[in-house]
Amino acid sequence: MKPEVRIYPDLEALSKAAAEELINVYENAIHERGIFTLTLSGGSTPNELYRLLAADYRNRLDWKKVHVFWGDERYVPPASPESNYGAAYMTLISKVPIPLENVHPVPTESNNPELDATVYENEVRGFLQSTGSEGFDIMLLGLGVDGHTASLFPESSVLREEKRLVVLVIAPSTYTTPQRITLTLPLINSSKNIFFLVSGPDKKEALASAFSDEPDHGGSSPAAMVRPQGRLIWFLDEDASQ
Ligand code: 6PG
Repeated sequence: MKPEVRIYPDLEALSKAAAEELINVYENAIHERGIFTLTLSGGSTPNELYRLLAADYRNRLDWKKVHVFWGDERYVPPASPESNYGAAYMTLISKVPIPLENVHPVPTESNNPELDATVYENEVRGFLQSTGSEGFDIMLLGLGVDGHTASLFPESSVLREEKRLVVLVIAPSTYTTPQRITLTLPLINSSKNIFFLVSGPDKKEALASAFSDEPDHGGSSPAAMVRPQGRLIWFLDEDASQ
């Protein structure tokens, strides 16, 4: 399916549009299967969307039917300021009546990141099988200035992974928290809907690479390798999309 590109004046408008579209997908999912699965991304861009879901849109969802996962996680305790789970807990999870058993954070406390990646892979695989789904209803993704998404970094061998759904990666040395657990492209691309949220002038180059025509062989733009069977919607602000 051809990606959809939607451009908004600013992050606030982008986030509201993403919230509206999320509700549309939620309503269809509940109608069809009585359950809605949402995978959150880290970083700061989605924080306004998370705030909206916890406030203006809080009562548009039956949170008992919502299951939340993460697209990637830094290998730190949940209480760490680096934790994607911790950030989403503060902005969204703690503010909505979602049952604890519906919240599926990446395990990061066994001191064995390889094992924890396998544990999460088994949890995700088992959950999707139990709901009869190939992939998540919505996967939220961000875009790094270097073109990474989730914790799939440029030139990483993980970009060629075809079997594993969740793996441990070591981020480039320029990044904090080198050990990260990430969903792989096979799982990302099995999503029914992928929402990329991209805001700010510093993302212009990465966005251009993600949309470049030449086929991506070397993995210079991981975001360009996100090609789901389902819908791919880019929610952009004007600064990022110029
Ligand atoms: C992470 C995120 C990462 C993020 C991008 C964009 O763990 O850091 O999952 O992939 O989405 O780095 O981050 P910003 O939204 O903060 O620019």
